[in-house]
Amino acid sequence: MFDNFPLWPDRASSTAGNVDALYIFLIIVSGLMTLLIFTAVVYFAARYRRQHGVQAEQIEGSTPLELTWSIIPLFVFMVIFLWGAVVYFKGRTPPRDSTEVYVVAKQWMWKLEHAEGQREINELHVPVGRDVKLIMTSQDVIHSFYVPAFRMKQDVLPGRYTVAWFRATKPGTYHLFCAEYCGTQHSGMIGSIVVMEPAQFEAWMSGGTTGPLSATGEKIFAELGCVTCHRTDTQGRGPNLQAVFGKPVLLQDGRTVTADENYIRESILDPGAKVVNGFKPVMPTFQGLVSEEQLNALVAYVKSLSQPGAAGAKTAAVEPQPAPVKAPAKGSKVQ
Ligand code: CUA
Repeated sequence: MFDNFPLWPDRASSTAGNVDALYIFLIIVSGLMTLLIFTAVVYFAARYRRQHGVQAEQIEGSTPLELTWSIIPLFVFMVIFLWGAVVYFKGRTPPRDSTEVYVVAKQWMWKLEHAEGQREINELHVPVGRDVKLIMTSQDVIHSFYVPAFRMKQDVLPGRYTVAWFRATKPGTYHLFCAEYCGTQHSGMIGSIVVMEPAQFEAWMSGGTTGPLSATGEKIFAELGCVTCHRTDTQGRGPNLQAVFGKPVLLQDGRTVTADENYIRESILDPGAKVVNGFKPVMPTFQGLVSEEQLNALVAYVKSLSQPGAAGAKTAAVEPQPAPVKAPAKGSKVQ
């Protein structure tokens, strides 16, 4: 009966069921309360209707009654709060070892790049059953990455990274929407997430690429001359970046920050903002000199320096060439 009138989008991620269960609970609670209130209204209207010879008298409150209607809702709301918090934190925390995909939003398209180097536009191919972490930023205004079938929505902001994750549970093609008004063609800023069986996905991934994003980053790192200061010994004018990612960093001003994606990004674009203890603020800014894609590659490279067994040096021989773009949107131009 509901084939042509679906009440829910597909449930195609590990989060979808949890979100729906909470939502159904909210509907049931709201429905029961509505029923209770309307029943009471009708009953009291009939029971205490105006009658001849009956005089109404004023009632001055009832402590037991007031406690009851305060404590029971408090209990119900705490259940909703705790349940919601658990669903939220699960949905917000990418599992360790997630596959990483970098997303750059712009008016009006989605540009995606796999850590392995595959690039896509308005399409994202992922295997079923794998945790995928999206590291997202915008080239211009605020956008929002929204996949209803995954019950996942995250604002994508210019000037910083935001993160989201999902684990697809069902092969298929699912809508990707921009859910934040971003200009005249906002409604056209759509795409699809293609969830494939692992074997199929491996075949898709074996298509042409310039090599891992981190290797591209290493090349840019060399081209921009970063290597001359960020040396792998202790003699550099900048900090050694080996094994820095994810670690706490002590700053000149005594603060300690975690070296996450946003910290690396900021240190490239605004090097004076958080200078590492023991170093001078001598690094020039690279604001305007690197594109969002190049920034992503640099971040991926610095991250790769913290992976076990990855010294980063072995990938230096990658030839410079533009990465092939898979399935570009009709009439759109990659910048
Ligand atoms: Cu991008 Cu709306």
